[in-house]
Amino acid sequence: MTLPTAFSSAIDYFRASVDFLDAHSWIYHTANTRFIKAGILEKFPHDYVEYFLHLNNSDLNKFPFLYECDEINNGINSSALQTFRSTLRKLIPKEAYDQPNAQSLAKTLPINRLRKISAKKQHEIIQLSEVILSHCGDVSLLLDFGSGLGYLSESLCLVNQNWCILGLEGDSSRVIAAHKRLQVLMPEARKRVTYKEQFVEANAGEAIKHHIASSGFEDLQTLLDKWAIIGLHACADLSVTAIKLFFELASVKCLVIMPCCYHKLQHTPDGNFVNFPLSAALKTAAAEKDSKIQSYFNRPFLRLACQETSARWRNCSEKEHLAHGKQMFWRAVADAIIDDAAVVKCQQPIKNVCQIESFAGFCQHYEQRSKETDAQHLTVRLWNEEHEEKFNKIFNSYADVGPKLAEALTCLQTTLQKLCENIVLYDRLCYMQEFADAQPDLKLNVQFQKILDEKLSPRCYVLIAEKL
Ligand SMILES: C[S@@+](CC[C@H](N)C(=O)[O-])C[C@H]1O[C@@H](n2cnc3c(N)ncnc32)[C@H](O)[C@@H]1O
Repeated sequence: MTLPTAFSSAIDYFRASVDFLDAHSWIYHTANTRFIKAGILEKFPHDYVEYFLHLNNSDLNKFPFLYECDEINNGINSSALQTFRSTLRKLIPKEAYDQPNAQSLAKTLPINRLRKISAKKQHEIIQLSEVILSHCGDVSLLLDFGSGLGYLSESLCLVNQNWCILGLEGDSSRVIAAHKRLQVLMPEARKRVTYKEQFVEANAGEAIKHHIASSGFEDLQTLLDKWAIIGLHACADLSVTAIKLFFELASVKCLVIMPCCYHKLQHTPDGNFVNFPLSAALKTAAAEKDSKIQSYFNRPFLRLACQETSARWRNCSEKEHLAHGKQMFWRAVADAIIDDAAVVKCQQPIKNVCQIESFAGFCQHYEQRSKETDAQHLTVRLWNEEHEEKFNKIFNSYADVGPKLAEALTCLQTTLQKLCENIVLYDRLCYMQEFADAQPDLKLNVQFQKILDEKLSPRCYVLIAEKL
């Protein structure tokens, strides 16, 4: 989430990224279930097809790792595909592929006091608690944005006995559940930890002050001037809202927040996003481009930014790739032959060994239903000759190569994923720096740090900002 070394300014980096994405948006701009209907098979450059159809499993696994595998580029006889990899390599910082350092808190935090927490959640909580401890040690009040069931707040209350923690959560049922957990698991902490129902938006400053005043924390006076905003997987707009409130609220000295679910960012009426792009640098780069911004910065772009990273791709077996390619291809065939009033339901998953040889075989796997049905009244629509005709057309052209090309498309998406996430997060960093630069009295330290094992938890970056 930094500027790659090939660039010396944010605007140059964003210009190059926008050019690249505009030229390659065909790789991600439709949902994978619709890639056949959207004509992506026809958009695949011929030499890409040739390359991926003859690629062995080991090289397929290495393809997304742009810094490791020069031998892959040597084996590519398509100059377009070589340029694809070498340009992308300049646009993705090398550190994006690094593993984070293990943190020491894992040994000391009595995580077994926090029941019913998955291994993934434990890992996230331990790593994030460590960062919060090292950056917010002298803070008196932590505001846990999107506190959910309270796992992070509970952990933090064990980590530092001096903190008071106020969880703000938009979903009332989670607030109730978090209170119940606290009462059962650590009743002694109720003097220092509480949760309030609050959907946090950029104008929530006064409401937050009110919640603090009514929190019941002892010695409120000492809490008044040193706060931190924290959050674990603060989804959609919430992490950007946290940035805005960090600047607005003078008492907030520190921000330590892990964003996720970029694809749920709120739309504006004209089809753009309220909180993306944020920085003047990225806005300028997009405005300079002739193509419409929505053709490359769209919901599928944000979905790709928050998809599985390349970490798990590395060890996929041939069987797994084939099974995934088949699922994606035949599901997309189903979508391509139905009309707009229908939806597809998979009857039986397509196994790796299973071959679909005919329309009859296909119909055993997929059912179509009317879109207007509800759960109680499922209307199954019958496959007919018209569907069969469309099916045969695709089958005759693509049955042999379709699953492999579906997996090739996934491979290209996996290779792009780190660029998309870097742009979303680096845009936020630039926005914060631009904001601070415009305030003569504000000195800001801001960075993204990778703190999680991305195989276990793909949204692995924490934004750390401190007012100095
Ligand atoms: C992915 S969950 C993470 C929950 C918790 N931090 C954890 O890691 O277990 C995101 C939480 O944020 C809440 N949320 C999302 N947007 C919010 C907003 N604007 N204000 C308050 N809560 C919000 C959701 O209801 C959900 O509980």
